[in-house]
Amino acid sequence: MQTRYEIVADLINSNHYKKVAEIGVMDGTTSQYLLHHCDLEKLILVDTTFSKLNNTINTANYKNLELIEKDSLEASRMVGDKTLDLVFIDGEGFDCRGVRRAVNEIFPKANLIKDSIDDVIHVWYVYI
Ligand SMILES: C[S@@+](CC[C@H](N)C(=O)[O-])C[C@H]1O[C@@H](n2cnc3c(N)ncnc32)[C@H](O)[C@@H]1O
Repeated sequence: MQTRYEIVADLINSNHYKKVAEIGVMDGTTSQYLLHHCDLEKLILVDTTFSKLNNTINTANYKNLELIEKDSLEASRMVGDKTLDLVFIDGEGFDCRGVRRAVNEIFPKANLIKDSIDDVIHVWYVYI
C-alpha cells in the first residue's frame, strides 16, 4: 500500500504540477518527500505552528519553499486565486464542516487544469 506522501508525489508527478501547497505540515514528513521527489517551482507550507518542522527540514536550503505560519483561512488570503496546481489539505481535526470550510477557502487558489474539485480534495479523501 502506498503512503500518503507517495500518493501525493505520484499525483504531482503524473500531472506535472509545479505549484503546490500543503495545509497542515506537522513535522514535514510529506513536505520533505515532495521536496526530494518532485520538480516543484513552489511549495507553500501552511500550519499554525512550525515548531516540529525544523527537526526534519533545513528550510533555508530550499529556494522554492514558502512558509506561512498561520491558520489556513488567514493563509488563503495571502495566496492569489488560480496560482496553485494542487492543494493537499491535511489539517488534523478537520471534520466535515472543517473540510467544507477548507475547500471553500482553498478551492479558488487552485488552477484547475481538469476544471474539477477533485484536484483539491482527491488526496485528502484517499488519506482518510
Ligand atoms: C496530520 S498533521 C499533518 C501531517 C502532514 N501533512 C504530513 O503528511 O506529514 C496535521 C497538522 O495540521 C495542522 N492544522 C490543523 N488545523 C489547521 C488549520 N486550520 N490551519 C493550518 N494548520 C492546521 C496541525 O497544527 C498539524 O500540524
